[in-house]
Amino acid sequence: MWLIGVICTFVHLIATLISPISSSYAMYVWRNGWDPSISGCANNLTAFYAWDDTPSSPCFTHTWSTQEKRDWLWSTCNRPGREISQIFFYDTVTALSTRDCSSTGVQWVKSTMAEGHRKVQGLKIYALFSDGGESVPEQSHVPHIVWYNTECANAALGEQIDGVAVNNENWDVTWDSVRMARYLDNLNRIVINAHTQEPVGSLKTHFSVGWRWGKSGNGGDIVITWGGKSQPVMRHFIDIFDSIDVQVAFVTSDAMEDRLRGAEWDYAVQQGKSLLTTAYINKALPCQTTYFPFPINDLDCPAWAYDYKTESMMFQELDAFQSRIPSRVVLHHFRGAYSSGGIPDWPKH
Ligand SMILES: *[C@@H]1O[C@H](CO)[C@@H](O)[C@H](O)[C@H]1NC(C)=O
Repeated sequence: MWLIGVICTFVHLIATLISPISSSYAMYVWRNGWDPSISGCANNLTAFYAWDDTPSSPCFTHTWSTQEKRDWLWSTCNRPGREISQIFFYDTVTALSTRDCSSTGVQWVKSTMAEGHRKVQGLKIYALFSDGGESVPEQSHVPHIVWYNTECANAALGEQIDGVAVNNENWDVTWDSVRMARYLDNLNRIVINAHTQEPVGSLKTHFSVGWRWGKSGNGGDIVITWGGKSQPVMRHFIDIFDSIDVQVAFVTSDAMEDRLRGAEWDYAVQQGKSLLTTAYINKALPCQTTYFPFPINDLDCPAWAYDYKTESMMFQELDAFQSRIPSRVVLHHFRGAYSSGGIPDWPKH
């Protein structure tokens, strides 16, 4: 028996050493993030804990509008030991939908892409869309990305957009199978549109799901027929896209692992698809779904959850998670609260 144990340990060690998946992170980059350089916002716990990220809020600024903001982003991606090599990057499509290569907006996207690819080794930048809606309106943005890559971007200068990522959230497990199949048809149009990019498959497709999206009310798999195949719906999501991130919505590594496995981890591995694991760091309820640092003794936050509310405790837990299952972790999101500098527990990188 001991020999098997030794062999297993050895195999696990080798697998850990050669595994490319757990060596870097992905990250959501939304339009705005916390900004301690705004007057009245630095070390302002009241404002930080209140986390008012509505458009009129003073403490949030655009994540990539200036050189300083972009350098903050690239330096966060390059943080030693916590490198980020994939970002889901919001707010490109408004400029690209002008279809005018010489416009200020398109030039801004071009120089930002080139800068990111130059300053962060191996970085893959996915244009992120999040309109929401059962008809998946995000599908209509994809042709603008294909236009941009084909007509404007010089890939030799790193100006290309590497993929499209959709955060739609409209899926509902109480829909009947006709409605579900129609939603899958609409999701599939994201991929059909992305595949108009030459060479086919060069523009990657990514989708975000909730960990329970494949389960009916009683916890059983939702099985539907789509594309000529009858199978659990989570497998359809995996089949359609190049990669999926699963919003596991819990801070402990054991729950994260259970939820990821329940979202067809084994199937994804078998199909050669990447199943990423999303860690919420944004303010959300209940408190144990997120690493966001609720103020101590907050009525919404159980006492045990405070063991997971700093950046260092978060990484300790994510490391434990990845030692058990080699899924890339997606940090959600840049400057909210990761790398925000809002409080000392969540430093700016
Ligand atoms: C802290 O933020 C709150 C809420 O935004 C604001 O009302 C207050 O003036 C700020 N405090 C300081 C010292 O600037």
